[in-house]
Amino acid sequence: MSIRFDNKVAVITGAAMGIGEATARTLAGLGASVALLDRNEEALVKTASALGGSARPYPCDVSKAAGVERAMTAIQGDFGGIDILVSNAGIQRYGTAAATPEQVWDEVLDTNVKGFFLVSKYALPHLLARGCGAIVAVGSVQSVAALGNAAAYVSSKHALLGLVRSLALDYARQNIRVNCVLPGAIDTPMLRWAAGLDPNPQRVLETCDRMHALGRMGRPEEVAHAIAFLASDWASFITGAALLVDGGMMVPAGGMGFQESGTGAGAKPE
Ligand code: NAI
Repeated sequence: MSIRFDNKVAVITGAAMGIGEATARTLAGLGASVALLDRNEEALVKTASALGGSARPYPCDVSKAAGVERAMTAIQGDFGGIDILVSNAGIQRYGTAAATPEQVWDEVLDTNVKGFFLVSKYALPHLLARGCGAIVAVGSVQSVAALGNAAAYVSSKHALLGLVRSLALDYARQNIRVNCVLPGAIDTPMLRWAAGLDPNPQRVLETCDRMHALGRMGRPEEVAHAIAFLASDWASFITGAALLVDGGMMVPAGGMGFQESGTGAGAKPE
């Protein structure tokens, strides 16, 4: 058995760039027909035409029910069904609880949680009609741990994991598997944007490298490969799981900085 998606239709959200684009390229390379959703229409159309083949763009904001429902109906019409949903669209905003305006809280939760709910809600009837299917959501290490100054984002990614488990339980008997990946820092436009908020973006990027046991950030395709695995028959007995794709970021007690102290547990191996 090898990982192939011939005759499968995969819907990927946030597919115009970053992890979503890499996922669309990976799944298409493994034989899938890919339907790409993103609210950035210009970038989405460029990505779809760069992918070529069966790739088709469906511009839509995943936080708005009407557009999501329209997109899923159009995909069903164009491709004849849906087998795989990758819910990847997400945004990052910074701030403590006291410093986060209500509108920013809503924007983050609407995109990262409600968006996942809506694309699942409107894709599920099509997955169920096939008799089996897979949903993979893109969480974060911040689905199971917190970084500072990111109250809305951390909350949204924790909630995403809850919805993964809820969907996994509710649809297991109907052969729909639901899992998520939890990436560490991945070199995408989002991460470059976040680094650019600092007066010294290079220092932020170097810190991101050092946050991982492997000593570097991840590449979008490294997350895409884990998504492809979870979407494939190789993961046929895996549902409700959260797979860290974090270069070992979550391994060291006390964080990587503590490991660099050079004493005790942090001492370099012989
Ligand atoms: P990115 O910003 O590079 O790409 C995200 C794409 O999603 C963009 O094309 C954007 O237009 C689209 N998008 C955003 N909101 C949308 C909405 N409401 N409707 C439709 N499309 C929307 O982001 P990146 O880094 O590729 O992130 C993808 C996912 O991975 C996100 O859920 C993010 O939270 C998660 N993630 C990213 C990490 C990183 O270090 N880059 C680390 C952990 C998780």
